[in-house]
Amino acid sequence: MTDDWEQQIKAQIRQRYVVQAGDATEGTARTIEHGYPAELINELPPVLVAAYSGCGYLFAGLEFKGNETVVDLGAGAGLDSWIVASHLTNGTVYSVDMTFEMLEKVNSQQLTINLLPICADIENVPLANCCADLVIANASFNLAISKEHAFAEAHRILKPGGRLVARDLIKEGELPPEILTDPLSYNTSLGGALEEHELAAEMAKAGFKNITVSDHWEFSYVQSVKIEASAR
Ligand SMILES: C[S@@+](CC[C@H](N)C(=O)[O-])C[C@H]1O[C@@H](n2cnc3c(N)ncnc32)[C@H](O)[C@@H]1O
Repeated sequence: MTDDWEQQIKAQIRQRYVVQAGDATEGTARTIEHGYPAELINELPPVLVAAYSGCGYLFAGLEFKGNETVVDLGAGAGLDSWIVASHLTNGTVYSVDMTFEMLEKVNSQQLTINLLPICADIENVPLANCCADLVIANASFNLAISKEHAFAEAHRILKPGGRLVARDLIKEGELPPEILTDPLSYNTSLGGALEEHELAAEMAKAGFKNITVSDHWEFSYVQSVKIEASAR
């Protein structure tokens, strides 16, 4: 895989998310369909709900002490970052995304919560080793050109005992020919999807333990799953 090819795909991904404006009504319907509680969505900034482009609700059963450091990898417009930040009394959420225009949506809100957008590549995260209690990621690992680098970075920034909670897309066997031959299939989140065993193997290679993949549901040609793991 050449650097040139990687840069072209990343440029296409950025172009796609630069124009991910969305409509608040559609965003509300999509998030509720994806498991976000309606009463929660109604309290969130409409511009963030409108630009939601994840593949499911991450936070069922997740509890916060209030002082955690949380990193949202591929945060997009920051809907999940915002939800976490509003649970923290004394913690910080870093929202990492390479598409500046997506981060601008959360950055343009009156931030009364501790949320810091960082425009960067999730394959090379500008945060210190062992700084995070929790890493979250919603539909972004599939877009990483090097899953190896992305999972290694997620693991590197987690404290010992820290956790990864993500939703992502996995495929079952080969995708249909119309997807495989579509040069844009990578940035529509299909071309980069791994099979479940490949995903678990990449995560284990990065050092993750107690990897679980659960809550499978159909998502276009692939499946959306919840991924949980612990660091070290
Ligand atoms: C499908 S969207 C999901 C956004 C957000 N997590 C959500 O649930 O709305 C994927 C996001 O990942 C970002 N992304 C893709 N590849 C990336 C990379 N290598 N580094 C940083 N961000 C990346 C895109 O810019 C986009 O905002």
